[in-house]
Amino acid sequence: MSRVAYVNGSYVPHGEAAVHIEDRGYQFADGVYEVCEVRGSRLVDETRHVDRLERSLKELRIAMPMGRGPLGVVLRETVRRNRVRNGLVYLQVTRGVARRDHAFPKPGTPPALVVTAKSIDFAKNDATAAKGVKVISLPDNRWERVDIKSVGLLPNCLAKQAAREAGAYEAWLVDDEGNVTEGSSTNAWIITKDGVLVTRFADNGILKGITRTTLFDLCKRENIRIEERPFTIAEAQNAKEAFLSSATTIVMPIVEIDGRPVGNGMPGQIATELRSKFHEVAEIK
Ligand code: PDD
Repeated sequence: MSRVAYVNGSYVPHGEAAVHIEDRGYQFADGVYEVCEVRGSRLVDETRHVDRLERSLKELRIAMPMGRGPLGVVLRETVRRNRVRNGLVYLQVTRGVARRDHAFPKPGTPPALVVTAKSIDFAKNDATAAKGVKVISLPDNRWERVDIKSVGLLPNCLAKQAAREAGAYEAWLVDDEGNVTEGSSTNAWIITKDGVLVTRFADNGILKGITRTTLFDLCKRENIRIEERPFTIAEAQNAKEAFLSSATTIVMPIVEIDGRPVGNGMPGQIATELRSKFHEVAEIK
C-alpha cells in the first residue's frame, strides 16, 4: 500500500513529498512537531497534543498554520489515506520558506505544515514491554528550552544512537547536578520502595510529555502518589521499578540502567499495570 503525506495543502505520494530547500525547518531547524498515537484509527490525546503544539509555536512566534478544527481534519485524513489502524501521526510546522537569513522572514510568510502517518505493530511493542528495556546514561548537552518541542534534535539523535550502539533502548540524560532530566525521546520515571512514582518537575529542562500528563490522571484515579522531583542514576538503579513514557511507547518498563538491574531485573508490577490501563483514561477520538 502506498503511503501519502500532507504537504502544505496537498496530499501527495510519500516518495514524492518534498519541501523547499529554503524551508526554515531544513535550513535552521526552525520549527516544531508533535507525535500523536493512533489506536483503532482514532487519535489519542489529540487535545493535549494540539495544546502543546500551540504553546511551542507561541514560544517561537510562529503562527498556527490553520485552525484546530481543520488541523484535526487533516490529521484524520492523513491517517485514513494511509490506512493506519494502529500507529502514529506526525505533524511538523516550520516558519516557512524564505531566502536564507537567520532573522525571521517578513511578516505574513506562511508557516509550512507537513503531516505523515505510519503503522506500528503494537503487539511487538507489548512483547518488548513484557521483557523490559535497558537504558544508559549520558550528559544532557541540549539547550535550555527543551520544553519547546523543536525539530532541532541533534543531541537527542546522538544520544539515541549511543544507546543503540550500547545495546540499549534509550539514553537517560543527566544534568550538571547529576540528576536525570529525561530520555532522548521519552520522559523518565522511577518508583520508590514505598510505591511512589517520581518524575522530574516539568520546567524548561524537560519536554512536558502528554503521556506523562495523562499518567498523572491515571495515578489520581488509582490513588498512586506522584512526586515531581529530580532523581539520580544511583537512586534509579536502587529503585523498586523504573520506566519511560512517550506517545509511541506508552509505559515501557526498564530492567537495567548502566548495566545494573533495576529491582529484580524484571518489568515492575506497577509500570506494567499503568501500561495496561493507560487508554482507559486517555482521550481517544
Ligand atoms: N517524543 N521527551 C522528549 C525529549 C520527547 O521527544 C518526547 C516525545 C517525550 C514524551 O512526550 P509525549 O509523551 O508527549 O510523547 C519526552 C516523540 C514521541 C518523538 O520524538 O518521536
